[in-house]
Amino acid sequence: MYFTKILEFPRAVESDDIVPGASVREELRFVPPSKLSVEKVSKTFRTRTGPVQALDRVSLQVGEGEFVCLVGASGCGKSTLLNMIAGLEKPDDGTVTADGLRVTAPGRERLVMFQESALFPWLDVLGNVLFGLRMKPNLTSKDRKEVARYYLDLVGLSRFERSNIHELSGGMKQRVALARALAPNPRMLLMDEPFAALDALTREQLYGDLQQIWESRRKTIIFVTHNVREAACLGDRVLLFSPHPGRVREEFLIRLPRPRDINSPELAEYASRIMRSLKGYKNDIKEVAE
Ligand SMILES: Nc1ncnc2c1ncn2[C@@H]1O[C@H](COP(=O)(O)OP(=O)(O)OP(=O)(O)O)[C@@H](O)[C@H]1O
Ligand SMILES: [Mg+2]
Repeated sequence: MYFTKILEFPRAVESDDIVPGASVREELRFVPPSKLSVEKVSKTFRTRTGPVQALDRVSLQVGEGEFVCLVGASGCGKSTLLNMIAGLEKPDDGTVTADGLRVTAPGRERLVMFQESALFPWLDVLGNVLFGLRMKPNLTSKDRKEVARYYLDLVGLSRFERSNIHELSGGMKQRVALARALAPNPRMLLMDEPFAALDALTREQLYGDLQQIWESRRKTIIFVTHNVREAACLGDRVLLFSPHPGRVREEFLIRLPRPRDINSPELAEYASRIMRSLKGYKNDIKEVAE
């Protein structure tokens, strides 16, 4: 199994540890995952048909290394919130703070992975992962390749490093995108429906792999999905949003041991509780609209 290889790398490297390949070991070292604080964030978009309030005083605290899933109907502001945490969007009111610092711009500690893998078709698999490492002046080109290969191994794609992107399946593309997001060793991963376009079987494999990667690389993960089972399978916590305006309505703590099986009856029970609430909020909206 490719995951066993992770154990060959140290979790932390002593600063005076000067050995061959030390810069690669330093690059792969354990970095503490991020702590996030979102305080009363609001956002209204001005559109041609009038203002759209995407978020209304949304607050949320995420602990170091926590895996939090955001679910909710389309248009309830999940992507807007994720983009704000990434520093791609600015709130009208409220603050986003990561590790005690106000988020005002994108940073390499918080990387985003989208539904569409957004890979570069003119680069091969290895080239795409190397792209994430281009801003690492401390690494030689050989070091970069070593680091990129480590992450390709982690996502199970070592054999495909010279493949062209158009030769890959949807699931493989998302694995490359995951390796590319992990390669700069961020403290937080922001994932916006990364598996939504994949078939059920491929998704299932990725749930298992993502849980293992999260255990071994220990990132704080904020994961947006429409799929309540997926949320219950992956999240320590699931936050349920309601739309117009986007608000956090409910929070579910998922007290299931890991690794979790998406098909387990206990997980199905959590998923149906979340789904019941989700439908409840949809009905509220329908009543208001009628
Ligand atoms: N750049 C923008 N300009 C205008 N309106 C926007 C913009 N981005 C988002 N919105 C609006 O803000 C609201 C929230 O959008 P957002 O994309 O955050 O929702 P979402 O929960 O991610 O939805 P989905 O589940 O469909 O991805 C929607 O009504 C959307 O139309
Ligand atoms: Mg979205």
